[in-house]
Amino acid sequence: MHDLFAAEVRGLDLVAGPDGATFERIRDAFERFSVLVFRDQDIDDERQIRFSSRFGPLETTKVGTNGAGSQLVVLSNLGADGTIVPPTSRQMLNNRANQFWHADSSFKPVPARASMLSARIIPSAGGDTQYCCMRAVYADLPQRLKDAVEHRVAIHDYGWSRGRVDPELVTEEEKRVVPPVRQAMVLDHGACGRSLYLGAHAARVEGMPEAEGRALIDELMAFATQERYVYSHQWRPHDLVLWDNRAVLHRATPFRGSAEARHMVRTTIAGDGPTVAVPHVAA
Ligand code: OGA
Ligand code: MN
Repeated sequence: MHDLFAAEVRGLDLVAGPDGATFERIRDAFERFSVLVFRDQDIDDERQIRFSSRFGPLETTKVGTNGAGSQLVVLSNLGADGTIVPPTSRQMLNNRANQFWHADSSFKPVPARASMLSARIIPSAGGDTQYCCMRAVYADLPQRLKDAVEHRVAIHDYGWSRGRVDPELVTEEEKRVVPPVRQAMVLDHGACGRSLYLGAHAARVEGMPEAEGRALIDELMAFATQERYVYSHQWRPHDLVLWDNRAVLHRATPFRGSAEARHMVRTTIAGDGPTVAVPHVAA
């Protein structure tokens, strides 16, 4: 679907469920293309959980996020009564936060491996999801920036990133459950190369004066999010998209959220380890 990454998988019947050999081919394609699009998958939550779980254990949704305590994240502007929630609600603000380039759960000691998003209700215009190929980005980084990120650690801080959207958005409880963590700035995917690992939660660079670290992050993010690295997914009803949070960043794009409904359901496949030996920030 893009010169660098993202592929469409055709002929998959999720109701029957792919057999073992087919699933291995999907897994290979996922490792290689980082974003997989499956069209026409009219699935419910249970079926989505079942298919996602074949890629690995799922994350449990943290407190303060729609779907807390379950294996689902519900990204929606609809309230429990099925009507659109007010623009100032937590739900709307959290949706707005998704418009910053990010990797899911990069604020956790073991960040997410993959996310699977199912389009249940989509607006007539806008509300695309964009993906940025961070392997191609790393490969293309000028040597000066490659040197700057080599063996570097960024501090990812949910309280900080959400606070930028609205200072009231993050609760004390959330800050307690997701304190800042250390993440490698470069991830190694073996045969698939290396990727730059950053995004909205990356607050500062360890061992660098705050302003200098911020300047580096901003320069890297500006380089990374150039149009040539971006695939924009225009949703159709019942699309299912799987992406590799360790190889791409993603963001939501705006739509007429006070007039039209958008309802998406995500499952998140946990990572199999931290990106650094010691992910916790020393007290
Ligand atoms: C997500 C996410 C963006 C969107 O599901 O993690 O950031 O377009 N979604 O809904
Ligand atoms: Mn996300």
